Amino acid sequence: MPELIPRFHDWFKKQLPYFWHNWICATGSIIIVATIIILFFFLLLFVYNVILGRHISSYVQLVSFLIMPSFLVLGIITVFIGNIIHRRRLRKGQEIKSAPELGGQILLKKALLIGFVSFISILALGTFSYEAYHFTDSNNFCSTVCHTVMAPEATSYSNSPHSNVNCVKCHIGPGASWFVRAKLSGLRQVYGVMTDSYSKPIESPVQNLRPARDTCEVCHKPDKFHGSRMVVRKHFEYNQENTETITANIIYIGGPSESGQASSGVHWHVDPGNEVRYRFTDVKRQNIVEVVQKTPEGEIRYIKDGFEGSDDDGEWRVMDCLDCHNRPTHIYELPEKAVDKSMASGKLDSSIPWLAKESLRTLLETVPSENTEELIKDKLIAIYTDDHPDDLQAMVDDLDAIAIELTDILERNVFPAMNIEWGTYKSNLSHFDGDDELGTGGCFRCHDDEHESEDGHYIDQDCDKCHNLMAYQEENWEGFGGIDIESFLRN
Ligand code: HEC
Ligand code: HEC
Ligand code: HEC
Ligand code: HEC
Ligand code: HEC
Repeated sequence: MPELIPRFHDWFKKQLPYFWHNWICATGSIIIVATIIILFFFLLLFVYNVILGRHISSYVQLVSFLIMPSFLVLGIITVFIGNIIHRRRLRKGQEIKSAPELGGQILLKKALLIGFVSFISILALGTFSYEAYHFTDSNNFCSTVCHTVMAPEATSYSNSPHSNVNCVKCHIGPGASWFVRAKLSGLRQVYGVMTDSYSKPIESPVQNLRPARDTCEVCHKPDKFHGSRMVVRKHFEYNQENTETITANIIYIGGPSESGQASSGVHWHVDPGNEVRYRFTDVKRQNIVEVVQKTPEGEIRYIKDGFEGSDDDGEWRVMDCLDCHNRPTHIYELPEKAVDKSMASGKLDSSIPWLAKESLRTLLETVPSENTEELIKDKLIAIYTDDHPDDLQAMVDDLDAIAIELTDILERNVFPAMNIEWGTYKSNLSHFDGDDELGTGGCFRCHDDEHESEDGHYIDQDCDKCHNLMAYQEENWEGFGGIDIESFLRN
């Protein structure tokens, strides 16, 4: 029995990594110990804050969950390299360039130290990587670490129907491979922010966004759409009375029929039995030159009238949710719609003469800055003094409320630091894009009566194909005999 102890001693000694046998090992050891000491203090800081129920700043989180553990890994790798070199030298019987002697070489002491260090490292690394995973997936990380850059996205998001859906649900989705891809591209983005070398505004559409099948469709089943939706909006004319009108539109949401066979309506494109793909020649995917519709009988190809390019021009894409819902959460309004919305909800008082027209003009001519409210007040007073002196007093009586509301509209839609103006990010969910009376974008990129198949069919623009426009900016619309229009009102 007693002779076993020295044998074990020798064996154990051989298994131990070298922590201090050359300069590389020593550097690694110092990094490890220093990191652990710092991490330990961060841990105390956390416990302290958690006990007191205090908010932990995201910069502290960034340092402790990402930067410090990276140092720990760096230290471990350095020790490892040092060991390889040392063992090779030992084997070849070369001269050993050792680090300075630190006290005696008492085995037990070293073993204890090593055991302790490894235990703490594993514990710390485990806890911290877990926390790091959650932290880099949190909205806080996305919007605080890249504060100004993501301010527009975070603002538009917080006003949207998806404001309770975390950024990563749409931008990364489930699964390890997309997680890794996202973190790698995230590193590039953080570098971009640090060196101020990113594009302003951030480019859209997002290249390599995860397909909707793995994000949107986790929550929304494409074969569960049904029926129609009634959309009622108020519009206020640009005259002295801000005359109120009603638009009522029944949109054929669509989806598969009861029998599960043919689908119809707007969501026909994403029915699991259908596929539409298209070829576009511009970054914004607005110029669509070819559309291919897969049917059980074969493919129908539609070519845009007058397209002269070759088969290699442009890029292909299979249509999914994002080709129409490209703004499901980063929703920017057009100024006309924003004014209508504020008047309909009473935040702008429609009894103040000319207010719809002049609010719109003020929004278009003001750039938000530190003192937006003051700028807006000066502008409105100048406009009313010049153009409607008789109505100036009525406007001034409510000036504070008007300025607050117009500031709010401006600050949620226009971001000069990121070069985001009115209409920078266009929605494809309609055909109005502000260019033409009915517009040319959105649905009308394909439904324009200009994409023709070999047998002479067009992707048509029949006004009853997608919706039934019951009323368009009508004064005193009767509605459906007695049903209160207000109950359908949707901004
Ligand atoms: C409901 C899904 C969804 C959520 C939640 C979401 N996004 Fe997005 N985001 C999108 C889509 C879709 C696009 C791409 C639009 C396109 O490609 O045309 C996008 C685009 C972006 C862009 C590029 C600029 C732009 O507006 O097109 C940034 C930056 C961005 N998102 C950041 C964020 C941040 C930060 C959060 C969380 C605060 C977030 N997103 C939450 C769906 C989402
Ligand atoms: C984590 C689940 C989740 C994900 C992922 C998600 N959504 Fe939603 N979405 C919701 C919920 C919940 C609502 C209902 C919100 C409400 O009505 O307040 C909603 C509402 C909507 C609406 C109706 C909005 C309105 O104005 O009434 C649309 C359109 C929509 N989502 C599209 C998308 C698209 C496109 C994507 C992918 C980019 C997506 N969603 C991803 C949960 C999700
Ligand atoms: C061809 C364009 C198009 C495609 C593709 C598309 N949608 Fe829609 N979707 C619309 C339109 C248009 C509406 C009605 C918008 C409105 O009410 O203002 C709508 C409405 C919705 C609504 C609200 C439904 C309701 O009953 O009010 C949801 C949710 C939705 N879409 C999710 C999706 C998802 C998820 C996908 C992908 C599987 C998808 N859409 C694909 C155009 C499209
Ligand atoms: C990339 C091209 C493309 C875009 C963009 C597009 N569609 Fe279509 N859509 C098609 C094709 C192709 C068909 C099938 C041919 C046809 O019906 O003319 C179709 C058919 C339809 C149909 C008829 C479905 C049925 O019942 O058979 C509706 C409704 C429709 N689209 C609505 C919309 C709406 C609303 C939008 C915009 C939000 C839109 N589409 C955007 C290509 C497109
Ligand atoms: C391919 C589908 C499609 C076709 C064809 C189409 N529209 Fe639309 N239209 C839409 C969608 C989608 C919207 C936006 C729905 C919403 O308000 O959310 C819209 C909105 C409108 C609105 C705005 C309603 C409002 O609330 O302000 C008007 C007006 C309109 N369409 C008129 C027309 C006319 C006129 C035609 C025929 C030339 C036409 N549309 C053809 C899809 C279509």
